[in-house]
Amino acid sequence: MRTAEIKRRFLAHFEAAGHRIAPSAPLPADDPTLLFVNAGMVPFKPYLLGLRTPPQPRMASVQKCVRTLDIDEVGKTTRHGTFFQMNGNFSFGDYFKAEAVRLAWDLVVKPVADGGYGLDAERIWATVYQDDDEAHELWRTRIGLPEERIVRRGKADNFWSMGVPGPCGPCSELYYDRGPEYGREGGPEADEDRYLEFWNLVFMQYERGEGQGKQDYPILGELPSRNIDTGMGLERMAVLLQGVDNLYEVDETRPILDAAAGLTGTTYAAPGGHADDVRLRVVADHVRTALMLIGDGVTPSNEGRGYVLRRILRRAVRSVRQLGYDEPALPHLLPVARDCMAPSYPELAADFDRIASYAYGEEDAFRGTLRQGSALLGRALTGTSERLPAGTAFQLHDTYGFPIDLTVEIAAEHGLDVDVDGFRRLMAEQRRKARQDAQAKKTGHTDFAVYRSLLDSTGPTDWVAYDTLATQATVLAVLRDGRPVGSATDGEIVTVVLGRTPFYAESGGQDSDAGVLRGPGLSADVLDVQRPVKGLIAHQVRITGGEIAPGMRVEAEVDPQWRLGARQAHSGTHIVHAALRAALGPGALQSGSYNRPGYLRLDFPWQGALSDSTRSEIEEMANLAIRDDLPVVVRHMPLAQARELGALALFGETYDDTVRVVEIGGAWSRELCGGTHVEHASQVGGIAITGESSVGSGQRRIEAATGLESFRYLARERDLVTQIAAQLNAPRAELPDRVAGLVERLKDAERGTRLLLDRVAEAEADTAAAQATDIGTVHFAHARTDGPPRRLAELITDRLPTARPGITAVASPSGFVVAANQAAQDDGLSAADLVQRLLDGRGGGNARLAQGSPPADPLAVLDLLGRVLAGAPMGRRDRRD
Ligand code: ALA
Repeated sequence: MRTAEIKRRFLAHFEAAGHRIAPSAPLPADDPTLLFVNAGMVPFKPYLLGLRTPPQPRMASVQKCVRTLDIDEVGKTTRHGTFFQMNGNFSFGDYFKAEAVRLAWDLVVKPVADGGYGLDAERIWATVYQDDDEAHELWRTRIGLPEERIVRRGKADNFWSMGVPGPCGPCSELYYDRGPEYGREGGPEADEDRYLEFWNLVFMQYERGEGQGKQDYPILGELPSRNIDTGMGLERMAVLLQGVDNLYEVDETRPILDAAAGLTGTTYAAPGGHADDVRLRVVADHVRTALMLIGDGVTPSNEGRGYVLRRILRRAVRSVRQLGYDEPALPHLLPVARDCMAPSYPELAADFDRIASYAYGEEDAFRGTLRQGSALLGRALTGTSERLPAGTAFQLHDTYGFPIDLTVEIAAEHGLDVDVDGFRRLMAEQRRKARQDAQAKKTGHTDFAVYRSLLDSTGPTDWVAYDTLATQATVLAVLRDGRPVGSATDGEIVTVVLGRTPFYAESGGQDSDAGVLRGPGLSADVLDVQRPVKGLIAHQVRITGGEIAPGMRVEAEVDPQWRLGARQAHSGTHIVHAALRAALGPGALQSGSYNRPGYLRLDFPWQGALSDSTRSEIEEMANLAIRDDLPVVVRHMPLAQARELGALALFGETYDDTVRVVEIGGAWSRELCGGTHVEHASQVGGIAITGESSVGSGQRRIEAATGLESFRYLARERDLVTQIAAQLNAPRAELPDRVAGLVERLKDAERGTRLLLDRVAEAEADTAAAQATDIGTVHFAHARTDGPPRRLAELITDRLPTARPGITAVASPSGFVVAANQAAQDDGLSAADLVQRLLDGRGGGNARLAQGSPPADPLAVLDLLGRVLAGAPMGRRDRRD
């Protein structure tokens, strides 16, 4: 049975049992405790915790998940994949253990012909939490599982939580006995390969606190209701129903594995080929995961989600290399992954150009890195006799993303080993620092919890940003440093939550509104507006007069000029985006944007800078849209319809069932967007591109001025040109030629000046050398110059007889320099010592040449030098000649 069919049957079974089907949330988790959704229940957490009311008490989903904790196990065991899909059914205070057990069992054993999975009931085992007699009893009497196939296990195995504070509870897992060819007899405790776990039923009834690991945390109390959260591993069920050995051989990954084998000329499952098999599985798993991550808007970077993606892509590329293929591999593998996954996720096909450009760009960049790193490693190896130091290995890893095993391998080819223990210590140190950072970020969660409970008690903010710019509102809360307070006064910066607000909270790239709050005796400037939790708007304000306190009535007023500018800039962003894609193709899809009155910027994947003519073309197209006064229309429609219309969605956003679509000129620009916009394109006023630059590998950024700012920008450019034309006294059209001519003449003049100065210096040096005097055994020359003193000092010293100790002193407005020839140095004289003594320690250099700041009275210093030389002890060292 194909994976897509297993998924369809699951959803049909639970829909028939009264469940509402929810689409998968995007992989980047909308949850500050997680990078990625790692279980089916994650999007439902607020319902499980009772923070929000679910649309229906029974729901089901097939959720995309990523877990990378066990990344090193991928390919080695049969059960670890970084990307997987979790089929889940959920009850929020509705049914509990008895029905959950029944629903799962029925689907699993129902014959295939009747829409079930048709598993052999005789081979199914269940585990329950050690003292969960109720679950034990349910399996035994209601389902009829024999006593010996129901196993009680401890907290580590049969008590489930997300690993962080949140909902948790005892669980019961279903296992399938794959038969003696897969391992030892004796149930799940004996062999988890033979007895494959495929479904986890969590009886979610508690809330857990902070703690370590799977067992060591406190139970804070009961949840408001008893819930069900289950997770059936889609890939694991596919393993069972497709009769294959492991996760990587099911229909959604096997073609990638085969393509990798074909590309690298290796044979999968060949006798003795275990190491190759592991690599092929890593490739199959990682290529698919990368596809799914980029599909959901993650892009490679050096932190957070982007780093996980980068690591996965690099591991895939590296494994292909280890299999003996040295050319770019992803162009051969990613399309195969797309074809495997597109039946379930059609957006992957539609969006493939963008996804591919990130993946291929990253592979190219990594190949470059490997080349550079190999060169550095090569140099380090030639300078080392036996062991490559840990610091070098760490630098290779940290700066060049060079995996340690690669370093070890290449070093071994040179007959050297690597200080791997030291490397691990450095890595551990880095991880410790990273954990501290993460901890520091977590403290922000206190605020998050405060906002959640506010939302709970006050309900969502009545948000009227689309309808009005000013409204009366009640102050619901005032927070100082994230904590609710009774009041705040003049001069303070605090966060204010209102019952209703016309302020736009920063989102979708649009900056938050500026404006004021006014009340009896109160005035406050609104500095920032955010939506810390869905439904709640928080205003950061600076109180400029009076006092603010919960319960007060205030007037909330958005600055109308600001809002007009914001609308122009946001519509301008959509226009530039549409023009960009028209000029460069659909791959130039916005990966990030920011706009505020007068300014916009937009990031997009692209290799190499845009030419001047492409920039002009984009600018022209954008301004034509403005001239044509394309209508701007906002429509609300079901998400599916918006996708059908080809509306561009922001990645990593969770959309409600009904979405807001902003169209400019109908299909010319159609984006899912919650921003504020103008009504007609002409109201944008104008767009002037002000810059185009690189922001990381394969990413470009285009910036533009909008509205009045675009005219001001052009006017400033015009004024500059006018000033330059006046300075050069030339017509504007001739400026480029005139400036080029000037630059050429300037270079000639500089060459001439250098020549002249050299001649002058040589003449000065001749004179000074000719006038040198003897002080004791030392030949002493001195000069004053307006030119560079070091150069002159060297020229003079060159002209002194080499057989005798010679000292030169040169004073200039820029410094005082002393030089000693070799004979003087051999006699124990040092230019640095002399300068130190003459200038009271203010200067430095070496025995041959030293410099200090210019003395106030050069003559006195020369005089002093004469006396020092006269008294200098000579001949302390043997002359070398
Ligand atoms: N949330 C449970 C799990 O991930 C079902 O195993």
